[in-house]
Amino acid sequence: VDRPRPLVAGNWKMNGLMRSSAKVLGEVHAGYTPGLRARVDLVVCPPATLVSAFAHMSVGTRVGIGGQDCHAKESGAFTGDVSAEMLADAGAAYVLVGHSERRQYHKEKDADVCAKAVAAHRAGLTAIVCVGETREEREAGKTLAVVRKQLRGSIPVDSNSHNLVVAYEPVWAIGTGLTPTAADVAEVHAAIREELKRLVGKADHAKVRILYGGSVKPSNAAELMAVENVNGALVGGASLVAADFLAIAGAY
Ligand code: G3P
Repeated sequence: VDRPRPLVAGNWKMNGLMRSSAKVLGEVHAGYTPGLRARVDLVVCPPATLVSAFAHMSVGTRVGIGGQDCHAKESGAFTGDVSAEMLADAGAAYVLVGHSERRQYHKEKDADVCAKAVAAHRAGLTAIVCVGETREEREAGKTLAVVRKQLRGSIPVDSNSHNLVVAYEPVWAIGTGLTPTAADVAEVHAAIREELKRLVGKADHAKVRILYGGSVKPSNAAELMAVENVNGALVGGASLVAADFLAIAGAY
């Protein structure tokens, strides 16, 4: 079977000032040894204020830099927003779209997320499209239906294996220390893979990485990363500590 090369991405969320962050990034660079590089792709998504500096610092290290969100438009009267083109211009190669915190606090709907992913592709970025059910939805047995619907609404038709990554992040597992069982993760990731066959519809859909996110730690990374159709991790809190982030990547 054609297993995609794993990708471990760190989502720093609204954390990080220049001085302390440059130190963490330097530790990530130092720990991304040739042995680790041979096995796994590494991406850091700092706050927008640090994207340019991080991209400059990461030249030649093979650590990719990503934004955490982008506007759907290329430019214009959108005070406070950052376009995908601006992220690319700053040196980013990736951007998260549709993170549950954007869906929750900024009322982003699937159509908004799709427009942002289209913008990411337009700018030459790889879109990391995030999906995941709430606790209520899981308890009501709606997990697969919710995730399938989010995928159908959020993934642009022009997606291919090079410009798309999907991240499954159950909302109730984010920042809570709770994780689904390996069997539950396997079920959702298999459903996402099936849906990708329809949505990406290209011969190489199997190369689209499906990341798991939600309370990934060094202590549970090996078990989660071993699950079928889990092609990497989207790491929040643990990505702020270089040793933990690298240990998670080292699970591959
Ligand atoms: O995007 C990653 C994130 O939502 C997971 O956060 O802190 O549970 O790893 P955390």
